[in-house]
Amino acid sequence: MDEFFRLVAELVEASKMHERYRGEECINLIASEGLKSPAVKEMLMLSMDLESRYAEGENDLKGHVKKRYYQGQKYITVIENCVTDLIKMLFKCNWADVRLVSGTHANLATFKGLSLAAKNNKMVVTPLSCGAHISHDYTGLAGMVLGLVNIDHAYNVEEMNIDPEKSAGIIRATKPGIITFGGSLFLFPHPVKELRDVADEVGAYIVYDAAHVLGLIAGGVFQDPLREGADFVTSSTHKTFPGPQGGLILGNLKDERTEKAIKKIQHAIFPLSTSNTHLGRLPALGIAALEMKVFGAELARQTVKNAKTAGQYFYEKGLKVLGESKGFTESHQIAVDVREYGGGGVIAERLEEANIILNRNILPYDDQSNRENPSGIRIGFQDVTRRGFGEEDIKHLCDLMLQIIKGEREPSEVRKDVIELRKEFPEVKYGFKSVEEALKYIGA
Ligand SMILES: Cc1ncc(COP(=O)(O)O)c(C=O)c1O
Repeated sequence: MDEFFRLVAELVEASKMHERYRGEECINLIASEGLKSPAVKEMLMLSMDLESRYAEGENDLKGHVKKRYYQGQKYITVIENCVTDLIKMLFKCNWADVRLVSGTHANLATFKGLSLAAKNNKMVVTPLSCGAHISHDYTGLAGMVLGLVNIDHAYNVEEMNIDPEKSAGIIRATKPGIITFGGSLFLFPHPVKELRDVADEVGAYIVYDAAHVLGLIAGGVFQDPLREGADFVTSSTHKTFPGPQGGLILGNLKDERTEKAIKKIQHAIFPLSTSNTHLGRLPALGIAALEMKVFGAELARQTVKNAKTAGQYFYEKGLKVLGESKGFTESHQIAVDVREYGGGGVIAERLEEANIILNRNILPYDDQSNRENPSGIRIGFQDVTRRGFGEEDIKHLCDLMLQIIKGEREPSEVRKDVIELRKEFPEVKYGFKSVEEALKYIGA
């Protein structure tokens, strides 16, 4: 076969194999991934024309479409406005933007807009090794693309959280334009309300990156950053919030200060950083918002319960689970130090051999350059919870993981049990089976 054609055949085959492997045969514990319902997937399939379209333009201060530079927009404008309003209603805020194609893009536009509004390029962030996302960091988007200067929050490793008193001192001394909260290794609610007054003292905007915990916030657990004093929330739409891959920004227009910020962020979205806003995801985002309104509280509660159960169980079985003094976690994830069993890289690979998929993770006390085999693994429970795992199922899964971590069984042997366990949970719960079922539910 011609090499070009052979590559096409290979990619089609690999795509089919991937769907079966990760979709049917693996147990997915990557904390940054989400599991879509059949209704959300169907809505994506029903939106294929949108997937081909453009809708460049500007939005007003409610987040609605104000101006378009392309023709053929009469339904696209309705779709974008509806989704924006659904998101505003779900998160109880009066401004939102859904044009962001990812969480990183949401951070880009927000950090750029706010550094312009504050006329200040200093940003207080959680250190990367303590859970910040690379887009917050001087080695990533914030520093290398936007030219922001990072100042680290003070971090308490024992509590796995920002130290509010020490951070207040740092903020007063350095007077940043932006203070960020939220992160990728994110076990406990961050001290937003504790640092709101200090932010006001120095005139800083507060940004809360909810990429990991947006579904928990929608479900009313973890914390409510906008009510606690965050000016803006940035997020992905595909982690604990189980929508299509994309991003969003939430905020409240309250006064001149927030109006200036919103206008700068909107400018940073268009024209500074978008042309195509990937419209095909928007209807599915609306269906995911409906699912979170209907099932979000129950899903979020069970997700956190499952994460806590695993933390406690691993701890009782002798593993070093971080955040012990605070009950291991209040979110969908836990972090475990597996240095004595070979390190995070080694253990993640052994678990992968058994079709248990998670990621190695740098822990706060690790050497930052040791990305190959850091001390930790991070385990997320949003996917298995949506599949219907309760606490006893979680303990059974933990037992399989322990057999591998402690070297008691070969991963290839455990794999059979993992595939059997996965087969017991064929459905996606806490969601709709079809768009029609969703419409019937709302009485449409
Ligand atoms: C805290 C945080 N912010 C932003 C992102 C980036 O989101 P995306 O992958 O949608 O660009 C991530 C990714 O995992 C994250 O953990």
